[in-house]
Amino acid sequence: MSLQTLLDRYKNHYAAIAGQHSHDDAAALAVGGEFYTIGALEYYLLKAHGLNESTHVVDIGCGTGRLAAQLASRKHPHYSGFDIMESAVSYARDLCQMPAWKFGVTAGLKVDVPTGTGDMACFFSVFTHITHEHTFLYLKEAARLLKPGGLVIFTYLEFAVHSHWDAFAKAVNNFGKDAEPVVFLDCAGITQFANHLDFEVLALVDGDKPTFAIEEELILGPCVIMKDRGNLGQSIAILRKRVP
Ligand SMILES: C[S@@+](CC[C@H](N)C(=O)[O-])C[C@H]1O[C@@H](n2cnc3c(N)ncnc32)[C@H](O)[C@@H]1O
Repeated sequence: MSLQTLLDRYKNHYAAIAGQHSHDDAAALAVGGEFYTIGALEYYLLKAHGLNESTHVVDIGCGTGRLAAQLASRKHPHYSGFDIMESAVSYARDLCQMPAWKFGVTAGLKVDVPTGTGDMACFFSVFTHITHEHTFLYLKEAARLLKPGGLVIFTYLEFAVHSHWDAFAKAVNNFGKDAEPVVFLDCAGITQFANHLDFEVLALVDGDKPTFAIEEELILGPCVIMKDRGNLGQSIAILRKRVP
């Protein structure tokens, strides 16, 4: 799929939602809803992997700012967020009110972050909608912008996790209707990507298992209550850029 097709799909998706909901509801729904809970889970996941005051977080596919809002509420000093959707980026920027942060629109493969300056590059629910080649190129971009020892943290869908089947079944149902494709990854593919890009695989964690520590009770959907430990639904990959 070309980048233009991808962008057109997202524009249509955002426009369809915006036409039916209030500004804030549309901003939440456009990235999958559960704005506070998912954002908090993303934040605690980063914290579990060493996020501290000096961490420069690069959030690629930042959407309308689920993670950014969490970091802004804690006055986190170093953040750069990018998305292909200009309207999403401007919503996130307005929401966060952090003048020292950088928000930008990306054409879909590169982000405006100087080489070797990032500590954590995150892709939350981004590789679920782009091709494997595109994912690989984005990981290469992450390798460029990270400091040695920096982390890539991303979420993905995989057939090995029973609960991810629903996402695939939905895509099968919508097949032929010009719906957003759903893309699955697996441990073998991620490990290959990591080897070819000089990343170490630190963890690949099934999305349906509570794993990382959370500091508040979080309620997801109608019936999931998380205490002490959280999970994001999608599986989680943690890769580290090798130190030469
Ligand atoms: C499901 S939303 C998740 C947003 C955000 N990461 C979060 O967790 O709230 C996926 C986002 O990825 C963005 N996106 C898709 N392809 C992209 C690309 N190639 N580069 C940057 N952003 C992209 C979409 O515009 C959308 O905002």
